[in-house]
Amino acid sequence: MDVFYKNKTIEAYLDSLDSTVSVGFVPTMGALHKGHISLIEQAKSENNIVVVSIFVNPTQFDKEEDLLKYPKDLKKDLELLKSIDCDVVYAPDALEIYNNQIMSNSFNFDGLEHQMEGKHRKGHFDGVGTIVKKLFEIVKPNRAYFGEKDFQQLQIIKKLVEKHHLPVQIIPCAIYREDDGLAMSSRNSRLTGVQREEAPFIFQTLKTAKEKFKSESISTIIEWVEKQFNANSILKLEYFEIANETTLISANRKRKGNNYRAYIAVFAGEIRLIDNLAL
Ligand code: PAJ
Repeated sequence: MDVFYKNKTIEAYLDSLDSTVSVGFVPTMGALHKGHISLIEQAKSENNIVVVSIFVNPTQFDKEEDLLKYPKDLKKDLELLKSIDCDVVYAPDALEIYNNQIMSNSFNFDGLEHQMEGKHRKGHFDGVGTIVKKLFEIVKPNRAYFGEKDFQQLQIIKKLVEKHHLPVQIIPCAIYREDDGLAMSSRNSRLTGVQREEAPFIFQTLKTAKEKFKSESISTIIEWVEKQFNANSILKLEYFEIANETTLISANRKRKGNNYRAYIAVFAGEIRLIDNLAL
């Protein structure tokens, strides 16, 4: 496994590869778990070589404290990646990526950026767009893999590629869950025992909402979800929305021919967890 820390050296290495070699790319912020591994395994099965980036991107954090507390363990991540035969790791620092200007570019994602996460995390998607575009320019992958765990991010990356005519295919990957249904996340490691025990309630609620969606109105489902969380002393609901999968615009009525998904963000103490489920 080759590990690079500098743009120039990874670019030189990737440029030296034969043009017939297909490159799969999995961008991450490290603290790797089985969710990340599932993306890497899929990338391995569809490409000649796989590049994984590890970079905790400062510009996508709206709260300084969340950035500071984000779990980081590069040594452990590198051991894990080596054990699954990852080909190339790119682990730059902020200076390498941003020089001395840690700033986002501003993007227009045709309104996708103003929904859900965009309302609650100001500037988040400008940060994501900035880093992913930079990484694509360095790695120049044929395919890049993104988890449906961050469904809005996935749709925004597709839009980034479309609007900027980037020569990369975006591959969506299913959400990888713990046995009890909790979506895997690097943030799960920060949960207390009690919070971790309660956290599967998020997916259980989504599953019941899906069941209810067959026969009940959207407003009745939203009221029901809010009631569930009002009665929960450990998890605090930030938002629950049922929205169109393509536009991400929140729906108040079901319309034929549209695909809907339920999206949720919840706080366990100061730890923010998100999940979603196709309806
Ligand atoms: P990170 O949270 O590390 O996630 C890296 C990739 O793994 C994302 O595409 C995310 O959707 C996917 N992922 C995380 N948990 C998953 C799970 N349980 N099942 C399936 N996929 C999962 O998302 C980011 O980093 C950053 O925003 C990034 C794209 C790297 C830009 O900085």
